Amino acid sequence: MKATEIKKDIYWVGAIDWAVRDFHGYVTPRGTTYNNYLLCDTEITLVDTVKHDFAELTIKNIQSLVDPAKIRHIVINHIEDDHVTSLDKILALAPDATIYITAKGKRGLDRFYDTSRWNITLVKTGDTLKTGRFTLTFIETPMLHWPDSMMTYVAEEKLLFSQDGFGQHLASAGRFDDEFVATASSAALDDAVLEYYANILMPFGVMVNKKLDEIGALGLEIDMIAPDHGVIWRENPGRVLDLYRGMASGRARCSVSIIYDTMWHSTEQMAVPIASGIRDEGLGVTVVKLRATPMSVAIKEFWKSRGSLIGSPTLNNILYPSVAELLTHLRGLRPRHRICGAFGSYGWAGGAVKEAYGEFERMGLEAVETGPQLMYKPSLEDEETCYQFGREFARRVREYHRQFAE
Ligand code: FEO
Repeated sequence: MKATEIKKDIYWVGAIDWAVRDFHGYVTPRGTTYNNYLLCDTEITLVDTVKHDFAELTIKNIQSLVDPAKIRHIVINHIEDDHVTSLDKILALAPDATIYITAKGKRGLDRFYDTSRWNITLVKTGDTLKTGRFTLTFIETPMLHWPDSMMTYVAEEKLLFSQDGFGQHLASAGRFDDEFVATASSAALDDAVLEYYANILMPFGVMVNKKLDEIGALGLEIDMIAPDHGVIWRENPGRVLDLYRGMASGRARCSVSIIYDTMWHSTEQMAVPIASGIRDEGLGVTVVKLRATPMSVAIKEFWKSRGSLIGSPTLNNILYPSVAELLTHLRGLRPRHRICGAFGSYGWAGGAVKEAYGEFERMGLEAVETGPQLMYKPSLEDEETCYQFGREFARRVREYHRQFAE
């Protein structure tokens, strides 16, 4: 994909990774992009670099606009591997460039490279860099999502380079939100934002709200948000700000996600009448089978709904491994403002459901009374018990959701 002008004299020079399906364990069925940007001003400035596999591609994109030797400044907003592992190759062609990075970013960069011969300027919130027509203002965003993270604002173009924030793991031919919506839908774009937030930013909701407040207090006018992954928000940057504000405050649908795994279909057969009971109480319900669904999608579905039910067979007296994996992910992601319950089946003795409730407690999640547990196959009576449990859980979700009504 060629360099693309996103604002006058500002170009996307990144790479599209159509093929990646495993992004450090996050399953990315739609691929991703590594976005970086070249500001062709009096002093040429590169904002961010890309993953090492795509070094040649971004260099080619830069060369289509300028000789890389003319790059005077390189802003490094974030030092995770997907953003800095081409930096050495770019600096080899731009030896006079100065790097702008936070103090924590520099500490991280020193673990990737011997930076002793590089020109590095440490920056903090409010520091500026004048490149000619453009003034870049740096805004530290620690824990959004790493300690080193920052964003860079170009006042003259009302443009925010937001690094991982407001991104999506989405490979697409169009670089902008409106182009993606024209070929897919705004619902598909919202879904990609939600999945990315759920899997990466869920633990940092309080920080997200605080940073959005701070950005608001700085009075920055923003008419474009350019993240390091996915599409650039040109048509509707307010949309992603609103989605983030909502998710950071715990916004969810008044619905239920049933996430389960099964050995011989008994737990699965329990999920069906439970889903019927939820539906008959008038709530939406999504049923997700682990091992048939990428973990990142299961996490998204958990995050979408106000209530979730976890179904697990007991294997060797404990949780089924795929369910344990889900709960481990969730414990790290620290979900808030959600209500849960668990159900399951066993052969000789139970154990899985008790473990699931233990995990809810460790996460500090609201939980309903222990759900149905049954031996071997569900009888007709068991199915009725499951159905009634579904109805009761739906009522509890509706009641719990009232406190979040907007
Ligand atoms: Fe896109 Fe935190 O790396």
